[in-house]
Amino acid sequence: MDLLPKDHKDFGSKDYWNEFFSKQKSQPFEWYGEYDSLSDVLDKYIHPKDKVLIIGCGNSKLSADLYDVGICNSLSIDISTPVINQMKERYGKDRPKMSFEVMDVFKLSFEEGSFSVVIDKGTLDAL
Ligand SMILES: C[S@@+](CC[C@H](N)C(=O)[O-])C[C@H]1O[C@@H](n2cnc3c(N)ncnc32)[C@H](O)[C@@H]1O
Repeated sequence: MDLLPKDHKDFGSKDYWNEFFSKQKSQPFEWYGEYDSLSDVLDKYIHPKDKVLIIGCGNSKLSADLYDVGICNSLSIDISTPVINQMKERYGKDRPKMSFEVMDVFKLSFEEGSFSVVIDKGTLDAL
């Protein structure tokens, strides 16, 4: 598939991800698995009162699926501006309590204790 990089180092490159998401915008590209296959673990550790940070969200449906089971207070970040714009457009109206921001996971700008849960699905592996 021409979506995958020639060199594994590209997984850490913003340009690679910008191009990836400009090719892959019609439907989510879900790395590793969807909420349904991970819910046993996620439901055990994440609760509706939590404030959740999702790092390197890509165009995964995970934040929306969590919202629909009551985990509404989440912020998803990604280094790729095109994908964050897509996510805001796709989910912003129907799920107003979750938000999306362009941010580098190596340069987080939150105060200590801002989140009670951090979810990584595939990002640290990519980096
Ligand atoms: C393997 S994908 C995983 C996407 C999503 N979490 C999923 O499960 O489908 C890695 C994601 O990390 C993002 N990413 C790469 N480097 C990043 C960085 N330094 N800060 C934030 N996000 C980054 C990419 O844009 C991409 O969306």
